[in-house]
Amino acid sequence: MNEMIKLMLTRHAIRRFQPRQIEEDVLEQILQAGLYAPSAGNNQRGTIVVSQDKAVNLELGKLSRYMQFKDRDPAKVSHAISADQPSIQDDHTIMDGFYGAPTVLTVFARGGSYCHDDAAMMAENIWLAAHALGVGACYIGRTDEVFATEYGMETRRKWGVDDELVPVCNILLGYREGPEPHDKPRKEGRIIRA
Ligand SMILES: Cc1cc2nc3c(=O)[nH]c(=O)nc-3n(C[C@H](O)[C@H](O)[C@H](O)COP(=O)(O)O)c2cc1C
Repeated sequence: MNEMIKLMLTRHAIRRFQPRQIEEDVLEQILQAGLYAPSAGNNQRGTIVVSQDKAVNLELGKLSRYMQFKDRDPAKVSHAISADQPSIQDDHTIMDGFYGAPTVLTVFARGGSYCHDDAAMMAENIWLAAHALGVGACYIGRTDEVFATEYGMETRRKWGVDDELVPVCNILLGYREGPEPHDKPRKEGRIIRA
């Protein structure tokens, strides 16, 4: 099988991380892959913030978990996502929605109708590049809600992210703890040959 296709078919969401940080040259290659993602009109709207600050990542991760459940009882809204690499919906005792990942990326994109598309393109490039280099990754949503909080707004100000940039997603990076997750079966009937 073609190597690129193989990477796409073997990529998984990784949520259990070793504490060791990823090497700078590995991170650089992953970020470069993000910058080379396609963008609408070649406007290159996306900006990636790299945070390796444990305290900040934990605070943002806790807010991300909070946004998932808000005032609801986690036991009543959950469904099984991954037994190998449990999410906050699988294991309610996980209080950090960023799962202790040593590197947390936040993808912001300049506002406009294509900002989410551009950011998602960057995210997938980053996820695949990480996988190609043996680094585990996971996409995390609810980033807009996290950065709408007081702490989120203060953090983006500290990072020097201008007000025009829309927070779209987080991507967690780190070396996987535990075995390679099992493949998840694909739902049938999702291709219609017209
Ligand atoms: C738009 C999007 C949002 C996601 N948000 C979260 C999230 O908030 N927390 C999480 O643990 N995983 C999140 N994921 C990862 C998915 O749960 C994961 O991709 C899915 O379960 C399929 O597993 P796989 O990536 O291993 O194929 C998200 C993925 C996408 C594409």
